[in-house]
Amino acid sequence: MSIDIAVVPVAGLGTRLLPATKSQPKEMLPVGRKPVAQHVVDELALSGIRRLLFITGKGKNSIENHFDIDGELITYLRQTGREQELAELDFERQEMEYFYTRQRRQLGLGHAVLCARPLVGNQPFVVALGDSVIGLNAESDIVARMVEQFERADADVVVAFEEVPWDDVNRYGIAQPRGPVDDVFELERLVEKPGPTEAPSNLAVAARYVLSPAIFEKLAETAPGKGDEIQLTDAIQLILENGGKGYGLRLRPNERRFDIGNFGSYFRAFTEFALADPKYGPGLREFIRSLVKEG
Ligand code: G1P
Repeated sequence: MSIDIAVVPVAGLGTRLLPATKSQPKEMLPVGRKPVAQHVVDELALSGIRRLLFITGKGKNSIENHFDIDGELITYLRQTGREQELAELDFERQEMEYFYTRQRRQLGLGHAVLCARPLVGNQPFVVALGDSVIGLNAESDIVARMVEQFERADADVVVAFEEVPWDDVNRYGIAQPRGPVDDVFELERLVEKPGPTEAPSNLAVAARYVLSPAIFEKLAETAPGKGDEIQLTDAIQLILENGGKGYGLRLRPNERRFDIGNFGSYFRAFTEFALADPKYGPGLREFIRSLVKEG
């Protein structure tokens, strides 16, 4: 795959998950056995990403520690014969180079992506939001499919979408497709968090983007939008308005988006991943069944 660099914004304060996120990043909360950030990195590695730039912020150091190679821990596990636990650290060795930069002011997702400009420069790149896992155990190749579409169509923008209930359209970037909507469709317009009456569809941006470097210029021109923040959606819309070619790719039914941004969706994601655990899933299923029956 020619595009091998991804930007993963993880600078958000996680206020909707307080107090859990007071002194730890939401991206380090476990979903099943792994922290959210590791699911995201594993998914990107499967899609051929080899260079990864985290846009971090205050209190996010544990993300850097997690992806370091911890020689002391490895020696300890080896010396005490804990081979199985040692295997859990294999992810440290996957073929990936990590870079970190800080978003020094909380000016929104668009601004976080703009912080990647000095490293990414003049090449197309992937953006994967660090608080969304795609597909159970991150086995989705959505990013690889998006990159293929980007290259095949000589596109400026490719965005992943999922259908959401109409009552929820005001929580997402929403697509206005041009022409019929299939697994791949042309993008006419993108609007950030519209009300249900203004929403052109219920196709919601699903946390994965492939962008041409032209996005940086547009981000630099983008005025604060929804929530008084510089929105990535608005900069993409500027590209489309100026004749840029945009496509949407729909997530497949087996690659739903697990959102870790609030407790409701976090609890559901954790439960689903724990139920899919080969060792503990079957016992947990029985346990939940008995709890629900008693209730
Ligand atoms: C962000 C984007 C939005 C997108 C959502 C999920 O919103 O601004 O367009 O639909 O992520 O990918 P946030 O959840 O940060 O408010």
